[in-house]
Amino acid sequence: MAKLECNGLTKIYQDNRKALDEVSFSVETSGIFGLIGRNGAGKTTLVRILATELEPTQGSASINGLNILTQEDKVREKIAIVPQEARAIRWMTPKQTVFSYLLWRGYSMRDAKRLADESLIKLGLQQYANVLNSKLSGGTKRKVLIATVMASEAEVIFLDEPTTGLDPISRRELWEILRDIGKTRFIFLTTHYLEEAEQIADRIGILKDGRLVSIGTLAELRKSSPYQYSIKLPPKTQVPPLKDAAVTVSQSGYTQIMTHEAEAFSIARLLSEQGIKFSITPVTLDDIFFHLVGQKVRENHET
Ligand SMILES: Nc1ncnc2c1ncn2[C@@H]1O[C@H](COP(=O)(O)OP(=O)(O)O)[C@@H](O)[C@H]1O
Ligand SMILES: [Mg+2]
Repeated sequence: MAKLECNGLTKIYQDNRKALDEVSFSVETSGIFGLIGRNGAGKTTLVRILATELEPTQGSASINGLNILTQEDKVREKIAIVPQEARAIRWMTPKQTVFSYLLWRGYSMRDAKRLADESLIKLGLQQYANVLNSKLSGGTKRKVLIATVMASEAEVIFLDEPTTGLDPISRRELWEILRDIGKTRFIFLTTHYLEEAEQIADRIGILKDGRLVSIGTLAELRKSSPYQYSIKLPPKTQVPPLKDAAVTVSQSGYTQIMTHEAEAFSIARLLSEQGIKFSITPVTLDDIFFHLVGQKVRENHET
């Protein structure tokens, strides 16, 4: 099975900042892998290392059997990347943007023209093909960048925060496109929108301060989380006694209790017996993330 594998990837920048700390994992290179983490978690650093733009301080990685350090030219033929800071050139058209990228990658004029046209059609950009990028909406500009890497026939596509800053409608449109691309290529995307990972990623990795703290399908992350259930109580409700649970209170006064199945069961029974209103759901990616990353969660009994 084709895989992307990282072994102890560590990156220490010149100012001694450790951006990645022994990151090791392995994912199948099919479908969509979503790497989530807060700003500064190390997402871009990891993507740039895998895309052979940056050398790790320690460790190694391979993509479909090709070593990123010793076979970087071969790796580059197989991958394409839209970096976080990428912007479509204002005075070029989408057609020129895709076409010139393909020429740069080594395609002949004829192939570049054919692949550019196909890619623009696939992303629904034909009507904008000859309009200046500067005249396009933010969502359409982002689609142009994706059309560019798509056109290249790369097997592995890295997208660093492809939907950051887009309005919710454009974001959803892009999700549809990415799901479609994910059927035939491997997409490695980073995001800090948990909903995005939940909606489109087949597998998810959580990065915290340069360390990979969890990886798997949403179901696997849920299983490996210490807490599988979330119970919500309306404001001013007395919180029942808890043994092993994490409690948070939202700004609007709702109390959230995250706990494992046995305790969730006994809390739910107690609340029902006392006629107290509550809701109970399996933990979401948000819940898992905030628990692992340690934000907003206050342990036990503190309410
Ligand atoms: N070129 C650089 N030089 C020094 N520090 C950097 C550089 N790039 C990123 N960093 C630092 O490394 C850490 C991880 O950054 P980054 O990989 O950009 O995280 P993310 O993409 O998750 O926001 C941050 O603390 C950031 O400030
Ligand atoms: Mg980044």
